[in-house]
Parts: sequence; C-alpha cells; structure tokens
Amino acid sequence: MLAVDKKHPASRESPMADLAPMQTARTIIALEHDAQGVALRWDDGLRSRFHVLWLRDNCPCPQCRHPQALERTFMFIDHTAPSIRSATLRADEVLEIEFRAGDESHLSRYTKGWLRAHGYSENEPRDRPCTPQLWDADIAYRLPCIDYTDYMQTNAGLRAWIEGVKTQGIVLLRGVPQQPGQLLEVARRIGPVRASNFGEHYDVVSMPNPNASAYTSMGLELHTDLANWRAPPDVQLLFCLKSSVMGGESVFADGFRVAEDLRAADQEAFNLLSTHDIEYRFHDDTCDIRTSAPVIEVDREGRLTRIRFNNWLRGVMIGPEKLIEPMYKALATFWGMLRNPKYRRELRLEPGHLIAYNNNRVLHGRAPFDASSGERHLQGCYLNQEDVDSALRLLERRQA
Ligand code: OGA
Ligand code: ZN
Ligand code: ZN
Repeated sequence: MLAVDKKHPASRESPMADLAPMQTARTIIALEHDAQGVALRWDDGLRSRFHVLWLRDNCPCPQCRHPQALERTFMFIDHTAPSIRSATLRADEVLEIEFRAGDESHLSRYTKGWLRAHGYSENEPRDRPCTPQLWDADIAYRLPCIDYTDYMQTNAGLRAWIEGVKTQGIVLLRGVPQQPGQLLEVARRIGPVRASNFGEHYDVVSMPNPNASAYTSMGLELHTDLANWRAPPDVQLLFCLKSSVMGGESVFADGFRVAEDLRAADQEAFNLLSTHDIEYRFHDDTCDIRTSAPVIEVDREGRLTRIRFNNWLRGVMIGPEKLIEPMYKALATFWGMLRNPKYRRELRLEPGHLIAYNNNRVLHGRAPFDASSGERHLQGCYLNQEDVDSALRLLERRQA
C-alpha cells in the first residue's frame, strides 16, 4: 500500500512542509537512483546526491510532518532501514520516490527548489547572507544610517537595519521621536526584548548611589555589555533622549577587526585570550552573577564568534600560576590595540538617535561628562540574534 494520507491535506499551502518558499531557476537534467540513494544533475553542472535514509527522514507528507505545525513526526528509529524502489521526475519537476522498508511502502515528493536549497554534496553552493564586513575608524564613511519612519513602516527600512546589524555590526536610526516608550517600539519591531538584572530596559543617567559604572558620569572604556553572563546579549540598542552635557561622546570599535589583527600580529596573545578563561562578575544588593569565559571566542573552524571584554566586570584573575603574567600581557596587548585611534569610531549621540550594534562583536564606550553642565539621558535594551535572523527570514518569505 502506498501510504499517502488524504485525510490531512497540508493546510498551509506548503508543498515541502516549510513556510519558506524555495524556488530555483535551475532545472534537473538527469536523475539516477539505486536502492541506496538518488543523484541529480542540474543544468549548471552541479551534481547532488541524496542518501535514502536522509530522503526518507525528510519526507514532507502529512504522515511524516504534522499537517498544521509542520514539525517532524516521523521517527526513523522506529522503522526498518528503507530502500528506494523507484524514483521518477514528474513533468512539474517534482521528484517522486517510493520507499520500501520491510513490508511498508511510502511515497514521498520533493520539489526541485527544496532539493536545490538543501543539497549537501561537494561544490554545493552555500548561501551565506550578510557576511560580516570588518571595519576600523573609516566606518565614518559607511556607518549605515536609517530613518526611523523607514524602519518602522517599510520592509526596505527594516531589512537595511537588519543587514547593518549583521554585516557592519552597527547601525544608526535617526529621527526617533523623543519619548521614552520609543526604544521598546523599535526593539519590538524585531522581537521580544532580552531582559537582564537591569530590567527589560534601563535608563543610562548619572545617579546618586549607582550600582553600575554606566550610571555615573565617568568615562567608560570600550567594552561589551553583560560580560558576566554565560550568553551576553547579542544586540544592544541605545536610544538618546537628552545630550546637552559637556562630554559623553560615544566610541565604538569592531572587536572582530581588532582580534583578527591581533591574531596576525601576536599569535601567542590571541591563543591565550581565546583558550584561557577570565572571570567576570556583577553584584549588587539583588544579584551576584558570574561566569568564566575567554575574551575571544572562536568556532571549530577558528572563526571569531564573540568578544567579551569589560574591565569593570572583570573578576579576579584565575590560575594556573604560570599563566598569570602571560594573561596580563596578552590582555594589555588587546586592550592597547582597542585604544589605538585607528580602530575607534567616535560619534556624538544626539536626541532622536538610536544606535544598535552586535554586542558580541562591536565594543562601545563613552567619554566622561560633566553632569552639572546639562542633561544626558540614554535608554538601553537588548535583543536576541535569533529574533533578528528570524525577522530577516520573515521578510524574505514575504518578498518571495
Ligand atoms: C551602557 C553604556 C554608554 C553611554 O549603558 O552599557 O555603555 O554612552 N553606556 O552612556
Ligand atoms: Zn511521508
Ligand atoms: Zn555598555
């Protein structure tokens, strides 16, 4: 029996049980199969192979994926290993496969756009949207700036903002109405804000009895926020409501640029900072939040994934004994580079400016200010990278 369930037609018009439209202009020009897999040849010469179990596991039919939730319900572990009995390419370029597993048969269909998007063979083109573009002080000429109304009301404005955060790691919104609630409006266009011990959002003002350096009029060295959290917030938003004080200018640096230059110039310092943990801590009357992690984090391929640097949250240096001096030396090298004007982009935030940046990449700081010379009021909050990426995928879904 061919097990195609007619009782549960996919309710959401998604032939591949996926809400993302997957189309390709490419054509499949040849199909070969045996019991263990399928090989497709495309009109641009690409050859894609798909294994039998992989194909069976990814069947999009309503028996294998929940027809409304579209999530996988098929559990390959509960089935005999399948083999391919037939594979045909329909006139509409849908690949139809009949599987056999013991006494069971199953018919699965795959669109060519989905197959093209999910191929895993050698030379398969990899879609990597928004690759980071590293910068130094010259971002003065390239700092992405977007008008508030474009961002709030148009898909193009929203997309430009997201691409700025993902590519340059920093983007400035201008013309944000100077009302305290606007910060969260801007944030929620992307997704829910990421709360912390400082609340859902926080007011950066110089206050009596501050529990954090930010709430003083001191200068703040370049830093990343919440370095004491195991997963620091991904994107920080800072909204300027008032800035009539003397001083208080902002400064930003691309931590990935600095870390790459460190890797090239001083491999030993880079290795130490990327393999040995530093302790970070924040504590006040209500909390004591600590973590240990390297200053520079890299993935399995050695690509930079996170910079975590914050001198006032830095805890006591931990051993082993032989690394204490080399760690101070490596830290001083990295910190010294951060102070080099060549990496620093200075900027005065004016009322109505809202700057957002990747807190795992771009460090921020400010000059000291004279609190008696006027007013200074910023508001801040954070977003998760997952929500930023999701907002981009939703835009792509709409535009397709
Ligand atoms: C912060 C911060 C910078 C500023 O609140 O995290 O670094 O300009 N503020 O006050
Ligand atoms: Zn199925
Ligand atoms: Zn900060």
